[in-house]
Amino acid sequence: MLDLKSISRVFSNGDESVTALEDLSLTIHKNEFVAFMGSSGSGKSTLMNILGCLDRPNQGEYFIDNRNVAELDDAELSHIRNKHIGFIFQTFHLLPKLDAISNIKLPLRYSTTSEQEGHQTALELLERVGLGHRIHHKPFEMSGGQRQRVAIARALINQPSVILADEPTGNLDSKTSLEIMNLLNELHQQGQTIVMVTHEDEIAHHAQRVIHMKDGKILKEEVNR
Ligand SMILES: Nc1ncnc2c1ncn2[C@@H]1O[C@H](COP(=O)(O)OP(=O)(O)OP(=O)(O)O)[C@@H](O)[C@H]1O
Ligand SMILES: [Mg+2]
Repeated sequence: MLDLKSISRVFSNGDESVTALEDLSLTIHKNEFVAFMGSSGSGKSTLMNILGCLDRPNQGEYFIDNRNVAELDDAELSHIRNKHIGFIFQTFHLLPKLDAISNIKLPLRYSTTSEQEGHQTALELLERVGLGHRIHHKPFEMSGGQRQRVAIARALINQPSVILADEPTGNLDSKTSLEIMNLLNELHQQGQTIVMVTHEDEIAHHAQRVIHMKDGKILKEEVNR
């Protein structure tokens, strides 16, 4: 489903250049749960940004469902970002002034879903992430774990083909992290494709496949279970 072919990403500012990804090839199949690990600066977030079509490689090709991302125009790209990819971040990225349900409905602004249908779906998602009783709470009125649940519900609202989660438990204590991982596991069991970055072995252990990165390359892969 996601296919990277000899991807390189070099950042250059002035006369300095940093190779964040180097000749990296990778296939992620539908319904896989993949975790990326590796030291700080090894290129994990850069890779996630490319997978999420937020950034482009300097070299190599990226295919989503056999479509070459480089050949998509802006409209097609934003359609893919909005409809096919759900993002979850370490710092949640919720809008502070909006309550839980309004945050979840945000990605619907660019869709043709009716307000009523969108509202219903958002309510169902809030239930599904265990926050049916926090519909009108704003981010500052919720715990970290609850905020991440809202962010997960928001990532799910357009029924994305893949969820990209960059250190989803990076700001959470271990008990809350486990709750979030249980939720991601549940989504995976229901057929969701998940690609995650983490620094913690315990968190990575929830994935089927753990890919270790070093200096912008894949160092090794492990298969769990
Ligand atoms: N926009 C940018 N401009 C210049 N260099 C960048 C940019 N983004 C990333 N880099 C560099 O690319 C390398 C990989 O960065 P990346 O953010 O992908 O690492 P990471 O594996 O996610 O690290 P961490 O675990 O700390 O989040 C780093 O050396 C970083 O400094
Ligand atoms: Mg990172």
